[in-house]
Amino acid sequence: MCGIVGYIGHREAYPIVIKGLKRLEYRGYDSAGLVLYDGADLKLSKTKGKVSDLEAKATKEISLNGTIGIGHTRWATHGVPNDVNSHPHVSNSGNLVIVHNGIIENYEPLKKELIKRGYTFKSDTDTEVLVNLIEDVQKKDNLKLGKAVQLALNQVVGAYAICVFDKQKPDEIVVARLGSPLAIGIGENEYFIASDASPFIEYTSNAIYLEDEEMAIVRLHKSLKIRKIKDDSLVDPYIQELQMNLEQIEKGGYDHFMLKEIYEQPSVIKDTYRGRLHANEGMIKMAGVEDNIEKFTNAHRILIIACGTSWHAGLVAEYIFEEFARIPVEVEYASEFRYRNPIITDKDVVIAISQSGETADTLAAIKLAKEKGAFVFGVCNVVGSSISRESHAGAYTHAGPEIGVASTKAFTTQITVLTMIALRLAKIKGTLSKTEYHTYLSELEMMPEKVQEALLTNEVTKEIASVYKNASNCLYLGRGYNFPVALEGALKLKEISYIHAEGYPAAEMKHGPIALIDEQMPVVVIAPKQGHYDKVVSNIQEIKSRSGKIIAVVTKGDEQVRALADHVIEIPESSDPLSPLLTTIPLQLLSYHIAVMRGCNVDQPRNLAKSVTVE
Ligand code: G6P
Repeated sequence: MCGIVGYIGHREAYPIVIKGLKRLEYRGYDSAGLVLYDGADLKLSKTKGKVSDLEAKATKEISLNGTIGIGHTRWATHGVPNDVNSHPHVSNSGNLVIVHNGIIENYEPLKKELIKRGYTFKSDTDTEVLVNLIEDVQKKDNLKLGKAVQLALNQVVGAYAICVFDKQKPDEIVVARLGSPLAIGIGENEYFIASDASPFIEYTSNAIYLEDEEMAIVRLHKSLKIRKIKDDSLVDPYIQELQMNLEQIEKGGYDHFMLKEIYEQPSVIKDTYRGRLHANEGMIKMAGVEDNIEKFTNAHRILIIACGTSWHAGLVAEYIFEEFARIPVEVEYASEFRYRNPIITDKDVVIAISQSGETADTLAAIKLAKEKGAFVFGVCNVVGSSISRESHAGAYTHAGPEIGVASTKAFTTQITVLTMIALRLAKIKGTLSKTEYHTYLSELEMMPEKVQEALLTNEVTKEIASVYKNASNCLYLGRGYNFPVALEGALKLKEISYIHAEGYPAAEMKHGPIALIDEQMPVVVIAPKQGHYDKVVSNIQEIKSRSGKIIAVVTKGDEQVRALADHVIEIPESSDPLSPLLTTIPLQLLSYHIAVMRGCNVDQPRNLAKSVTVE
């Protein structure tokens, strides 16, 4: 995820662009840049770091005049965050400038082709490829910029929101979107462009939200034209009146970042597997895995190291790796691992999982593992983070910035990455039958739709939250793949509502927690149809006979548990191994609603930090 801003009109562009970028920083903040055209030349400034760093740099290095400008705040996907990889990117002629939010999946073959045609590249980004592709198309037939953008985009596979202009024709900006958001604010002979409406809310309340596969040419003294990128047909602009305040817009209309991030899960799971999972061809391609495939297939053991929610994703992965790829797995808290004297050999593969890539304990643990000769593979969300750099290889989760302190989309995207690795190894090792392998691939590809359906549990979880919002304790039970989900559900509730909660393997209940059960105790039981269903139903009966209050997460249509439980939350059907991607959704929503009803600060719970960079 990145944020893009553009302005064309009669005002100075710089203050609008810089303020707009600050408002979009929630979308990414590892580097930032802008370009202005002052009537004579392009004035470009970009830097690794936050928008405030850009502001300091730009003020010193360029004149800030110009009534056309574009800017970008980056969340790196291709290329580490540094000055060169920051946007805007300039074409080889020096005429075209672009900012881009998204991923061009086929940038490598396009780049090779452009290199053959004499183009050179300064950065590692897919975006620099795109701006040169546009230039190449434009030059070939001496085309107008809009047409060149359109033809170039028809060669591109991936996702984008782009904003591009030509310094030789500084009265227009061309914008387009596929998969990444883009809003156009309409003023009096001036246009504002941004990833959401927050950068221009004080200038105009008239906005157009481009739809996927649409592009627009915003030109001074001309009315706005929107076209379909594929077939060039004209689209009637639908101008909306904005009725939101600033804060609401940054949160995409959600009350909290956490809720927004919960709802982003269908799309970010897709981003995670985009370009990697090819269900039709029965293939999984992950560069970091392929380049080190023998390390994985020869591994005597996989050791997963993480903290917090990432550790829970590691526990799910333990079950998945052992089932799919038949490789022994151990999961360790990084903080424990680093301070004991673990036995590690060069036959071990260590997978470090971390949303931020900065957790001090995880970082220290992988340094130790490296010293002892293990191969370290990082699964991080933040591109260029310390853990991603310290690892020998890795795979990013591409979940976009997670702002809410309670981790949600990081968890499901980590599981998605780890499942893909396990499936890839299963294919090579032949540890799954062909049918099983293909079925899991297709099911994973369908997961965004199923997660979307699981989000329909929002209303019922809200009702349940209103019943239990004053509880002092809560138990979460699950078995097999859903035991870690029980831990994660309990952690979410603790973190944001400050209700004491425990996660347990359902069968362990009788070895202790059952003593806690009385009519005051809500017990969340994860009981999907696949897996150890009958056993979990027996556990539910045990709770019922002790008057505990049962909140059951069940597969749609389950009448047996409905007859026993006080509340049921229905999720779509799935296989057992992939069920955590679904069962976790209502648990996130339940903790969210309880916390809101208790008046807690959901996005910034007391005493917690998003990333723990100290011991
Ligand atoms: C903190 C956060 C948790 C997170 C944990 C690990 O405690 O509050 O949400 O799960 O750190 O963070 P990481 O960035 O390494 O996944």
